[in-house]
Amino acid sequence: MSMSAGRLDATAVRAAYRRWAGIYDASFGAVSLAARRRAVARVNAGAGVRVLEVGVGTGLALPMYEPTKRVTGIDLSPEMLARAEARVARLGLTHVEALLERDAEATGLAEGSFDSAVAMFVASVVPHPKRLMAEMRRVVRRGGQIVVINHFSAEGGVRLAVERGLAPFGRALGWHPDFPFEELLNSQERAAARFTPVPPAGLFTLVELQN
Ligand SMILES: C[S@@+](CC[C@H](N)C(=O)[O-])C[C@H]1O[C@@H](n2cnc3c(N)ncnc32)[C@H](O)[C@@H]1O
Repeated sequence: MSMSAGRLDATAVRAAYRRWAGIYDASFGAVSLAARRRAVARVNAGAGVRVLEVGVGTGLALPMYEPTKRVTGIDLSPEMLARAEARVARLGLTHVEALLERDAEATGLAEGSFDSAVAMFVASVVPHPKRLMAEMRRVVRRGGQIVVINHFSAEGGVRLAVERGLAPFGRALGWHPDFPFEELLNSQERAAARFTPVPPAGLFTLVELQN
């Protein structure tokens, strides 16, 4: 499977994930399972029940939410969404309220309509990460929760071996290979956010921000 590195526009995302949909869960989906669990645990611990999962993909995280949450998932790829829908039906996930084909940078969803928004392994795929962050902040109520998990560029270099191991996944998934925090967060957000390294080997970082 050959796909170019770098950010993907909507057409390229749909084309890339049309190819990935069938093998995603058994490849990158499996490698990133522990990290996904950490992110959802933070959402489950958050106040309020209305959750937006941005770039929900095949819905790997959907069974991890507390049944009391009301989850809406959005994604650009119909093939990824179809798998998420099948998972919801197969597992009878009644806490999933809607799965919608929307662009994470311009969702069309109402302002302040969620208590939490979470984006897992999406931030470095979208063309304009700051627009993604602005849109997540727009749809989450004031005081609500923003959770992002992603691979960010190593600032020290200790993660190099693991990064090399996972690099082919990243490139194929359309990740921007060099993704510093500054591309997602402005200086105020960076100062206010909580950063937690997560497995494998701290390769991924959990970013939490109060809106
Ligand atoms: C690496 S996958 C992550 C999927 C899921 N969050 C997970 O943890 O398995 C990236 C997902 O983001 C979606 N995506 C990429 N750009 C998007 C955009 N601009 N708007 C909505 N979804 C997007 C892709 O279609 C894909 O399903």
